[in-house]
Amino acid sequence: MKIFDEIESEVQSYARVFPRVFNRAKGEFLFDEEGRQYLDFLAGAGTLNYGHNNPLFKEKLLDYINNDGITHGLDLHTKAKGELLETFNEKILKPRNMEYVVQFTGPTGTNAVEAAMKIARNVTGQQNIVTFTNGFHGVSLGSLAATGNAHHRNAAGVSLSGTHRMPYDGYLGEGIDTTVYLDKVLTDSSSGINSPAAVIVETVQGEGGINAASFDWLKNLQTVCRKHGVLLIVDDVQAGCGRTGTYFSFEEVGIEPDIITLSKSLGGYGLPFAVVLMKPELDQWKPGEHNGTFRGNNFAFVTAKAAIDHYWSDGTFSKEIKRKACYISQRLEIIAKKYGEGNFTTRGRGMFQGLNCVSGELAGAITKSSFQKGLIIETSGADDHVVKFLCPLIISDENLKKGIDIVEQSIKEVCAKEKNIPEEINFFDRFCVVNA
Ligand SMILES: Cc1ncc(COP(=O)(O)O)c(C=O)c1O
Repeated sequence: MKIFDEIESEVQSYARVFPRVFNRAKGEFLFDEEGRQYLDFLAGAGTLNYGHNNPLFKEKLLDYINNDGITHGLDLHTKAKGELLETFNEKILKPRNMEYVVQFTGPTGTNAVEAAMKIARNVTGQQNIVTFTNGFHGVSLGSLAATGNAHHRNAAGVSLSGTHRMPYDGYLGEGIDTTVYLDKVLTDSSSGINSPAAVIVETVQGEGGINAASFDWLKNLQTVCRKHGVLLIVDDVQAGCGRTGTYFSFEEVGIEPDIITLSKSLGGYGLPFAVVLMKPELDQWKPGEHNGTFRGNNFAFVTAKAAIDHYWSDGTFSKEIKRKACYISQRLEIIAKKYGEGNFTTRGRGMFQGLNCVSGELAGAITKSSFQKGLIIETSGADDHVVKFLCPLIISDENLKKGIDIVEQSIKEVCAKEKNIPEEINFFDRFCVVNA
């Protein structure tokens, strides 16, 4: 279709890598105009954890629309919003002993991050926010100051201020706990680093290359924050809503962030929706100080409630994610050994995993070849060197296997070198918990 070349902006990105016109989607599949089917391992960059057009949510949404439920509500109290808040409190917060106030922001991840940083600054009276190497928090100016990627930062057009960058876990090599450095500079009044309002962190860096911080590092980070009276913000926009195996990505770590941002899969159906969760004492907003016309996307409230009711009323879904995650890690480990010539490594946590191919060119060739075979999968990391496995969490065992098979086949073709792996490793299917 020529219209895209004629009048759509050059800013397009995914459309360049997957140059088809898509017109239908279901579960873990996308279909183009020619009726060709693609397995979707991109999943709306983490927005489609429950798949495309999940029938359970669609039914609720259609009922709601048919009954002329409120579509747009600013921040008015609506029945749909009230019911979502009740469900979120009863099924997500209370069972986890979490006491938080919910702030509805504009419906994007970056808007939630902007609000989180404002709260931290206004409550503490400090401007500086500590951010991490390879962190990604969005591209509006406040969030962009917290984002590491030069490609995005260079587009700002103004200097980005109010943040100070520290090395993320693993940045200085194995065995170096970078929180020790953070502690040191916060202790030293001559370090040149202003006392921060908050630290903002992703427990698994999605756009930054699927870097998963260790639980120890995250705990140490919280300890340093507490010691210096610095608020801890966990940006769970991509890692949250089940991606790592639990609803929040930090649950098994045992930390208690002061502020949490959620978006992407929060709405369940792919509808725009974002919130900030904050400890009650931090809720010092004056009415309307941080507002936004689209804070009241009631369709998203309906589908978000349906997602929680269906998938998070007990631990079944979480177990399912972990089972599939185990399969993904086993397969990626084998692929890395077989084709990586000692260079490939695997990374990530839960169903948020990546294959580090070291070279962006190589990773790009692999995803391109996969696309030709009917799989949509993207790369991430500073040099786009990590193949990012982000399929919907509800994917069937069969299609999970199929998608990884396609990547393996593509790697085989692109790398043209295969190492003989001992039989017992090769027969992973026999040992794996996934029965494809
Ligand atoms: C951790 C994290 N925070 C914030 C954002 C920004 O979200 P949005 O693109 O909806 O503004 C993203 C987007 O990928 C993200 O991964």
